[in-house]
Amino acid sequence: MASQDELKRMAAEKAVEFVNENEYIGIGTGSTVNLFIEALAKSGKKIKGAVSTSKGTSEMLARYEIPEVQMNEVSHLSLYVDGADEVNHSLQMIKGGGGAHLNEKIVASIADKFVCIADESKYVSRLGKFPLPVEVIPMARSMVSRKLVALGGQPELRMGFITFNGHQIVDVHDLNITLPVTLEDEINKIPGVVENGLFAHNAADVLVLGTQEGAKVITPN
Ligand code: 5RP
Repeated sequence: MASQDELKRMAAEKAVEFVNENEYIGIGTGSTVNLFIEALAKSGKKIKGAVSTSKGTSEMLARYEIPEVQMNEVSHLSLYVDGADEVNHSLQMIKGGGGAHLNEKIVASIADKFVCIADESKYVSRLGKFPLPVEVIPMARSMVSRKLVALGGQPELRMGFITFNGHQIVDVHDLNITLPVTLEDEINKIPGVVENGLFAHNAADVLVLGTQEGAKVITPN
């Protein structure tokens, strides 16, 4: 039986097939993405450059000598590759377990195609078992948390964690996510919320899933 890490690697290696040479791509953050960067380097495919979403991803790009390009230098990307904490059958996701969902949403928004890479434990029929990360302006944290309680959630401050953009994260447990697009908008409308980890508007176009039966390429239902 393949381990979770082996399933992540399987998805990461398969996703390299979606990369076209000589183009700009966007790259998310996390352990699955790190395996993708490694697989891309080993494939020998040469891209023009990659927009990174975090310090960790930039370090991986440098280690594998993949050129990094800044978001402000490009107007569009052919591809965005990223992991997820949960992904449903419409390929809507919860992201932000690593606290990078703000940068990830920004970079994904200029890509033609979003390829999500994950092991099969992340593929769920309903989002919400994984607590939803909400990035907040520190002075608004308590007020935002009260509003999140009113939405039915149980907010918990991510202790000792500051995002790349200097904000805090509140992880919201027990949300009833029946309408992901509506909830994404509702949470983002609360003053003091910078961005939440629901990727419902910007769902993935393709999911490459590492499973015990091999890598599967899944499109939205
Ligand atoms: C970071 C993310 C990651 O994509 C998500 O946490 C999945 O990480 P991993 O590939 O390590 O399981 O959203 O903000």
